[in-house]
Amino acid sequence: MTNQELIKMAHDAYENAYAPYSHFYVGAALLTAQGKVYKGCNIENASYGATNCAERTAIYKAVSEGEREFCKIAVVAKDGSTAFPCGICLQVMNEFMPNAEVLLEVNGEIKSFSLKQLLPYGFQL
Ligand code: THU
Repeated sequence: MTNQELIKMAHDAYENAYAPYSHFYVGAALLTAQGKVYKGCNIENASYGATNCAERTAIYKAVSEGEREFCKIAVVAKDGSTAFPCGICLQVMNEFMPNAEVLLEVNGEIKSFSLKQLLPYGFQL
């Protein structure tokens, strides 16, 4: 699975995004250590706090299927802006994939970040 292929799957994922309030469509593609990919999209709610981000949708889908080892996650926004993960998603990544790579699009180019770069002092018990 190349970075380009994973990013492409993240683009496919936002086609299912449910974002009638923000109209900001986000897709994520999560690669497991065994090479399987779980896609996720953002799912909004009229009670805004109940919204789930694309990254957490992908991670929770995978974890709920028994997956525990992840290599990388690609995150993209339909509007082409850079979809830096929010603080809650960074914290969830810190729980399940603290050494993971995060692929984002910056000005149309794929850029690789470590989770440690994005969340240098992540909370762990
Ligand atoms: N969103 C994500 O899906 N991932 C992020 O890391 C940031 C925000 C979604 C949540 C909401 O549906 C929309 O983007 C606007 O905040």
